[in-house]
Amino acid sequence: MQKLKDRILAEGIAVNDDILRVDSFINRQVDPVLMEEIGKALASHFSGRGVTKVVTIESSGISPAVFTAKELGVSMVILKKQAAKNLNEELYQTMITSYTKGTNYELTLSSKYINENDHVLIVDDFLANGEAATGAIRLLRMAHATVAGCGVLIEKSFQPGREKLERAGIEVYALVRIASLGKDKVIFADED
Ligand code: G4P
Repeated sequence: MQKLKDRILAEGIAVNDDILRVDSFINRQVDPVLMEEIGKALASHFSGRGVTKVVTIESSGISPAVFTAKELGVSMVILKKQAAKNLNEELYQTMITSYTKGTNYELTLSSKYINENDHVLIVDDFLANGEAATGAIRLLRMAHATVAGCGVLIEKSFQPGREKLERAGIEVYALVRIASLGKDKVIFADED
């Protein structure tokens, strides 16, 4: 998606070989006009696949996910990060280890909103090591839902997220793929 690439080049900050900061339009401030276009692009790719729900991981996935869901005409469900709780019938939970942030957390899905009739599109801002997305898939499987695919804004192709998801049989669609990062340098993987 050329507009997202342009924005990354204009405002993104490559901190080092691993991390791209996009605080001014995705993580700490959101550009709703860009997000709406992102939602349209993701929805257009996955339209006609029988998606019944869009699922995202709080917090930065919420804005692209809501626009994607609006375009697909379905509801959006949020996987929440929270302290471990006693398992109960209303909540599925799974432990996520974030290599990027060096943290562990419990990701949870309310069983009220996803069931065996759902065919789910996962939307998130970044795909890095893919721990969050693979955790989301574990939760959806606990709910006996099926996964239509995973749509992300920015894939860091030099990290193993895509490979992990594809190995699990999940289609990954990224609006922008980054081949490498360096201090103040962003190299894109392809021309989308
Ligand atoms: P991981 O396995 O290395 O943890 O990678 P994963 O793909 O699961 O992403 C974990 C978190 O790190 C996600 O945010 C993701 O958006 C963020 N992230 C990964 N790489 C980058 C990067 O280069 N730049 C930025 N800005 N974020 C990155 P999260 O923990 O879900 O937090 P939130 O921002 O959604 O609240």
